[in-house]
Amino acid sequence: MDNNIKISGEREWHKNLWHPFTQIKSSYPPQHIVNANGAILFRENGSPLIDAISSWWVTLHGHSNPYIAKAIFEQAKELEQVIFADFTHSQAERLAERLSKATGLQKLFFSDNGSTAVEVAIKIALQWWYNQGESRQQIIAFTGAYHGDTFGAMSIGERNLFNEPFEDMLFPVNRIPWPETWWGDTTIESREKESIKKLELLLETPTAALILEPLVQGAGGMRMVRPEFLQQLQKIINQSKTLLIADEVMVGFGRTGSLFASKRANISPDLMALSKGLTGGCLPMGVTMASQKIFNNFVEDDPRKTFWHGHSFTANPLGCAAANASLDLLENNPNAYLRFESRHLPHLKKIAQHPKIKRPRLIGTIAAFDLKTDSQDGYLNNAGKAIKRYALKHNVFIRPLGNVIYLLPPLCITDTQLEHCYKVINSSLDEI
Ligand SMILES: Cc1ncc(COP(=O)(O)O)c(C=O)c1O
Repeated sequence: MDNNIKISGEREWHKNLWHPFTQIKSSYPPQHIVNANGAILFRENGSPLIDAISSWWVTLHGHSNPYIAKAIFEQAKELEQVIFADFTHSQAERLAERLSKATGLQKLFFSDNGSTAVEVAIKIALQWWYNQGESRQQIIAFTGAYHGDTFGAMSIGERNLFNEPFEDMLFPVNRIPWPETWWGDTTIESREKESIKKLELLLETPTAALILEPLVQGAGGMRMVRPEFLQQLQKIINQSKTLLIADEVMVGFGRTGSLFASKRANISPDLMALSKGLTGGCLPMGVTMASQKIFNNFVEDDPRKTFWHGHSFTANPLGCAAANASLDLLENNPNAYLRFESRHLPHLKKIAQHPKIKRPRLIGTIAAFDLKTDSQDGYLNNAGKAIKRYALKHNVFIRPLGNVIYLLPPLCITDTQLEHCYKVINSSLDEI
């Protein structure tokens, strides 16, 4: 255990539950949440808690949003589920039209979560080459990448303690360094050059696709890159006709201050994976957007050229209704994400002066910095645990990634709530 801070309302572990990403031996039992509203989680026996990381980056407009709740309720009375092979429905059609327009990618393929949206993108990319009779199997990914927990997604993600037990069963991927940057970084250009050099070397082998998390690697530590780097990357891979897959599972739907990170970075992926904020974070759903060029190579008489993939809950009407309602909210109030960066800015500037922190960085709704410690930076660094515990005691929920502290709140968080989050983190730095 990290320290002795006691939190009221902490329960024992439930005998029938197995929690995600949790080592029961070294974790505190979970808090029981009875309801939630806006940015606030209400605990069974504790004061209201600010959800400063949008419940694993999904809750976009806030919890229990009445507009989305109503859309789900209305849809549930009409059509709750229908097989999406042989049938279609209005909510799916409307969502496809809107996301095609917003992303510039004409075709939408449904799945259930972020990992499956990525799996679909990889399978489509590989089969696209297969359908043309050209065997391209190399996939290029980045160091520090995280794309989900299914086997394909694990394969392209960074090899680390999360996937070590499966290492021998993951397919090979070639990796280039992710040239992360931060405020006051003076060596970024040389690191970007190094990355590009490695890319050019790898591209000497015909490559099916390059996959990246545009602008921000999430689970890898909220590591941000410059748009110029991504633009340069795109230019280079275009020359070898390598497909570009944008994993926007975390950064999509306004998180980087633009509706999509690819748009802010000014890159044009061939495939895009979306989930998390897609339904406003209310229901699980994933989609993979594909260009018309990609789709056309799957329209063939030869049955082997069909994309034989699908999930039972494909295009679930409730999920589609939630997603359409969430898009309404984004369209009606774009300033909620366009201006979020300026809300973080004064607070992060202040905390950036603190002697215990390094590498402050900010884009859109995502603000992050690293704690200076004597141990190695990374997920296994314990420094963030005490800060998390302190914040919880002071009614703020954060979930540091090792020694990386970040805030990624719902768009609806009030100025007072946001200020409180920064105040608590600031005082935790002084006191711990
Ligand atoms: C960039 C990225 N891709 C994929 C995933 C996997 O999404 P899910 O947890 O919904 O399977 C995540 C989850 O955090 C993610 O951040």
